[in-house]
Amino acid sequence: MAVKVIVGSQWGDEGKGKITDILAENMDLVVRYQGGNNAGHTVVVGDKTFKLHLIPSGVLYKHCQCVIANGVVLDPEVFFQEIETLKSQGIIVTPDQLKVSSITHVILPFHRLLDNRQESKRHEEKIGTTGRGIGPTYTDKIARAGVRVMDLMCRERLSKKIKKHQWEQLLPDHTLDVEAIIDQYFELGKKLKPFVIDTSLFINQAIDQKKNIILEGAQGTMLDVDHGTYPFVTSSNPVSGGACVGAGIGPHKIDEVLGVVKAYVSRVGEGPFPTELHCETGLRLREKGCEYGTTTGRPRRCGWLDMVALRYAIRVNGMTEICLTKLDVLDGLSTVKVCVGYQIDGELLTEFPLDVDDFTSAEPIYEELPGWTEDISGITDFDQLPANAKAYVQHIEKKSGVKITMVSVGSRRNQTIHILQPN
Ligand code: IMP
Repeated sequence: MAVKVIVGSQWGDEGKGKITDILAENMDLVVRYQGGNNAGHTVVVGDKTFKLHLIPSGVLYKHCQCVIANGVVLDPEVFFQEIETLKSQGIIVTPDQLKVSSITHVILPFHRLLDNRQESKRHEEKIGTTGRGIGPTYTDKIARAGVRVMDLMCRERLSKKIKKHQWEQLLPDHTLDVEAIIDQYFELGKKLKPFVIDTSLFINQAIDQKKNIILEGAQGTMLDVDHGTYPFVTSSNPVSGGACVGAGIGPHKIDEVLGVVKAYVSRVGEGPFPTELHCETGLRLREKGCEYGTTTGRPRRCGWLDMVALRYAIRVNGMTEICLTKLDVLDGLSTVKVCVGYQIDGELLTEFPLDVDDFTSAEPIYEELPGWTEDISGITDFDQLPANAKAYVQHIEKKSGVKITMVSVGSRRNQTIHILQPN
């Protein structure tokens, strides 16, 4: 048995959904511990493509139970829409399979409105949020003004909380009908009730029963509100430490931390990105890698792998292994670059700068490796990879000091290379 945290090492979109899905085959439980429906996980099974935003990817296996834990922010409308979409694709999700924490905070219509309103007022300093109400909901949580799932079960309590909240001062010209919102969310609460439990208790019992568990992070390390490129971040803690708080388990219960690392880097939304490519190669990575947001459809900015940022992500997450994804997207490039340092104000830096202004002005210093011409998307054995592709993987492993246990070469489950490690 093992409790494994899966974290994104970059700005999200590293392919965590596919990796969670593959590992979930041998899991009893998959737990989402932060974020909300700002996330987008694409999982391809046979001829079906599943796009999940809120519900953990483990749901595609009947034997696998799933949890939306306390650290998540939950939009109940999206929750039921996603269940309906899965149903239309042949996946029936029951309260027996899916559990929701009673203390998870709820995204309400005014949170979505506030998110978009605040973003439009940011002018030059836009964060490029997904507009799903994530930031304002976490703001309320920290300000002790939030509405939690358990509050939806009692109309009086819900009404009091929504009316006491000062959101109308922030949105003086809103056209929302407060009484209608209370009615709607009380009804959603009734529908939600069969799914709702004390998920910390449930997860800890599963750990005591020696079950196999994945704690699935959304977004990525560089979007972490503490450790990311603040203020261009999301409002939660995707890093592995967030899994303890967000799922209600002790740190000593975690056995492994798997970092998902894309073979290049992408970023959606605003904020600095030193290895971003503003040339043909960047566009090529975007097109070949289908780098368009699962949630918003926005084109993602693409660039070379950044080892400085990756070593930082390894440190703040305590990564014990790496899964390298989308290696096939680099097929056909004559050379592949890896950033190994930054030049900032004439100074060479090999550790990640915490000041976003330094990061913004960082000039990447690259190492160049030879590329490969072959199509690797059908290869499932590491030894069969072209020599230069193998060398690229080994280079990352050596530079990062963390073993690479999996390499993904396509979106399908079978497009995965498992690398056996010597004991
Ligand atoms: P928010 O999470 O909607 O508040 O957005 C904050 C920042 O995080 C924006 O730059 C978003 O584009 C980015 N972001 C949020 N969720 C994801 C994700 O799942 N993948 C990639 N970027 C994300």
